[in-house]
Amino acid sequence: METVCPVKHIAFIMDGNGRWAKKRLMPREFGHKAGAETFENIVNYCYDIGVQHVTVYAFSTENWKRPQHEIDALFKLFSYYIDHYAEKIGNRNVRIVFIGDRTGFSEDLKNRMQNVEEKTKNNGRILNIGINYGGRAEICHAVNKLIAEGKTEITEEDISENLYTSLSPDPDLIVRTGGEYRTSNFLMWQSAYSELYITDTLWPDMKGDDVDKAITEFMRRNRRYGGL
Ligand code: IPE
Ligand code: IPE
Ligand code: MG
Repeated sequence: METVCPVKHIAFIMDGNGRWAKKRLMPREFGHKAGAETFENIVNYCYDIGVQHVTVYAFSTENWKRPQHEIDALFKLFSYYIDHYAEKIGNRNVRIVFIGDRTGFSEDLKNRMQNVEEKTKNNGRILNIGINYGGRAEICHAVNKLIAEGKTEITEEDISENLYTSLSPDPDLIVRTGGEYRTSNFLMWQSAYSELYITDTLWPDMKGDDVDKAITEFMRRNRRYGGL
């Protein structure tokens, strides 16, 4: 029997890879590689403890400002891990959904992303992976879809249903590693009432225990949603 977890949807801002590498006098890319391994462990851990929806921020619409060699290294990692995750995570009843704007990606990458989504589409648990994801761009994309459908007036539900994350409820808990007190354009719409947990732990150092700590802290929070 699967454990019941108080958190239905957890989201991670996987920050701190560069600093983790710097501490080891290694290039930033080394930190991203370590971060990719941590991603697999943490995501699996979340499903093991009964979380149904996991969302991760891997590359933002602002990360294009980084040096080209770092961007290239990151996309090389995505490219390698896409099929690897489909194999390892997709086989654990996880539906992989890429969130973000992929229109400018190479045909090969787009096809492989689509294949993974297709292959895992009947699985029950959800993993949203943010690549070229930005909260503002996502809202614009949703509104443009609604305009194209001919809507002249929209509701909050219309927007929620047209976001990239439409298969998941709003996140209960957003965890940011690397200690920065900001959301950096992540899940702007969906995070209206999410609890935020910020840890100085750098992403590659993140362990199941740190997830437990975040969830324990979450359980102490009083979610009022504007009420009393
Ligand atoms: C997060 O780690 C990964 C991405 C944004 C792609 P960073 O690369 O931002 O690491 P720091 O914040 O510089 O340590
Ligand atoms: C946020 O981290 C984006 C991801 C983790 C993918 P950044 O390192 O890009 O955020 P800022 O620049 O510190 O706000
Ligand atoms: Mg960072």
